[in-house]
Amino acid sequence: MYEQVSHTLLNDILNQIKPEISKQDLRHFYTRLGANFYAIHSLFQRLYGNRADFEQQALRLVETMARQYINRPENLRQMDLDREKDYNWFLSQQWVGMALYSNGFADDLQGVKEHLGYFQELGINLVHIMPIMRCPEGNSDGGYAVSDFRAIDARAGTLQDLNRLADEMHQREILLVLDVVVNHTSDEHEWAQQARAGNPVYQDYYYTFKDRNVPDMFEQSMPEIFPEHAPGNFTWDEQMQRWVMTVFNDYQWDLNYSNPAVFIEMLDIILYWANQGADILRLDAVAFLWKKIGSTCQNEREAHLILQLMKDCCQVTAPGVLFIAEAIVAPVEVIKYFGEDAVIAKECEIAYNATFMALLWDAVATKNAKLLNQGIKSLPVKLERATWLNYVRCHDDIGLGFDDRDIALAGYEPYNHRKFLLDYYTGKFDNSHARGKPFGLNSKTGDARISGALASLVGLQYALENNDLVNINDSVKTILLLHSMILSFGGLPLFYYGDELGTINDDSYLHDAHKMGDSRWMHRPTIDWHKAELRHTPGTIEYDIFSALKRMIAVRKEIEVFADFNNRELIEVENAHLFVFGRYNISQPSERVLVIANFDAKSQSLNLDDISHWASPHSGRMIDLYTGQSPDIFNHTLVVPGFSFYWLGEN
Ligand code: GLC
Ligand code: GLC
Repeated sequence: MYEQVSHTLLNDILNQIKPEISKQDLRHFYTRLGANFYAIHSLFQRLYGNRADFEQQALRLVETMARQYINRPENLRQMDLDREKDYNWFLSQQWVGMALYSNGFADDLQGVKEHLGYFQELGINLVHIMPIMRCPEGNSDGGYAVSDFRAIDARAGTLQDLNRLADEMHQREILLVLDVVVNHTSDEHEWAQQARAGNPVYQDYYYTFKDRNVPDMFEQSMPEIFPEHAPGNFTWDEQMQRWVMTVFNDYQWDLNYSNPAVFIEMLDIILYWANQGADILRLDAVAFLWKKIGSTCQNEREAHLILQLMKDCCQVTAPGVLFIAEAIVAPVEVIKYFGEDAVIAKECEIAYNATFMALLWDAVATKNAKLLNQGIKSLPVKLERATWLNYVRCHDDIGLGFDDRDIALAGYEPYNHRKFLLDYYTGKFDNSHARGKPFGLNSKTGDARISGALASLVGLQYALENNDLVNINDSVKTILLLHSMILSFGGLPLFYYGDELGTINDDSYLHDAHKMGDSRWMHRPTIDWHKAELRHTPGTIEYDIFSALKRMIAVRKEIEVFADFNNRELIEVENAHLFVFGRYNISQPSERVLVIANFDAKSQSLNLDDISHWASPHSGRMIDLYTGQSPDIFNHTLVVPGFSFYWLGEN
């Protein structure tokens, strides 16, 4: 949009811009800057307009974008232009991802490069490598406490290793996802060190206070994220003689985004990693970006403005690069991280679908889809050109973040139901074979989350230890069932490394002083590549899981209606053990696939009347696209075997 005030400012900025920048060929940069500047200016002004140095800061912002545009390698600029034309590229069902720690997966970045063939064998073409930036030797929250945003941690390798990996991945058409931890830094970061040494410029990069007055005000309304191992939201720093805000661990200092210098630094870092060849950046803990007294300090309006501004600026310099929002918050809140009142994503194109993840775990524990159905019914419709990141497990805990109203509508009492789930997954409930551990137990609120590897949570570890063939079989089926859901729901499925081999809990963290207080380490495995070879040996668990997932991925890629164009319809059926939804082609409604999941151990029946508007038994033979077989139908009833799924198409 053309608007005089912002345009005048833009002209002033362009006149002042450093000669070495203005001499470059900035054609594409200028067209994009012109297109986005009104929005950039409005957002920047809303956030920082009351400052005397506003115009200088705006100049620095534009210079930052220009400098990083100049640094952007030619092949990446070309990719920007290609993606501009093929703007729906990331909604395709062709993408299937995996998240991993480089050191747990294969020692380091070089190791990851040596194992690229593994991804291709399985069908993975998007790899999220969790934090690899420099972090402290001891406690670093798995790399989420960064001490240098522009260096690779020596334990992961070098910048050259990353560049080589990114090149090789691009040649193999595998997308690279990297983390940018935007909410906080490690206390060993140079900015924190400067703040500690008393430098007021850097103290203003964080929230620091001389006494408890302001912290105590904040604490009245702020929840605790790690109530057990890092209670409270502020830490006293002896050297600085001040309190500093530390929402996560006491060594993770929250950045102060009310300071434009912080915004510009972090934008520069985002663009820096975009220029190192990342296709997608995962922005960590974005719900926490703005702090306000009297609020929970999550999902604040300004946090959204910051993300919009990051997106608008990134579109000028590196428009082909997408953002993933890591906001593990209530469904009505998470949807806002795509941006509101828009068609295309105004903030992040992709967001973690923690709701679906937690609902799937509810269905596994209850053996029915009551809450799953209810929760999905309440999941707000998202923007058209934005997509979910669907996952079963990740490196974090499982939060039981359902809406209490949904729990009640599903027929349970919220407090007791959450307690049941916790007992179930920590193995305290009768008949539960799950081997999880509680995480983040809060004695004040009774809240808790769950840690544990997928295979151990679904009972595979128990079954193996007891050589219980029935349970081995059931837990393998459950692993496949859960993956069939994230592969068909609509969105980007993100596997978690090790799950494709049935990897169980790793208790070695209990012997590491820096990890023992944080049970999430039990599900952050080190891949045993000798054992992984068993994926080629029929009759092994590794083979059963890996080969089934491999087939599922291959089939997904062929089913075009699995692409995400908001083309899903939830179908409520009589039998509560079943979860049923249809996927269709918006422009060709006859092209459709019916997805049916049975969360119970026993076979369940589906009355064909329940799905009559979807799949008429007379219109053709229904065929399960995964197995190539027709399901059993008897007397107008379709039979779904225990812990199984169908992807039904018509033949
Ligand atoms: C994100 C990460 C989590 C980390 C937290 C703080 O939620 O996924 O592992 O503890 O941010 O950085
Ligand atoms: C909280 C945060 C989430 C983080 C998790 C780590 O749920 O909201 O961002 O991943 O804690 O345990």
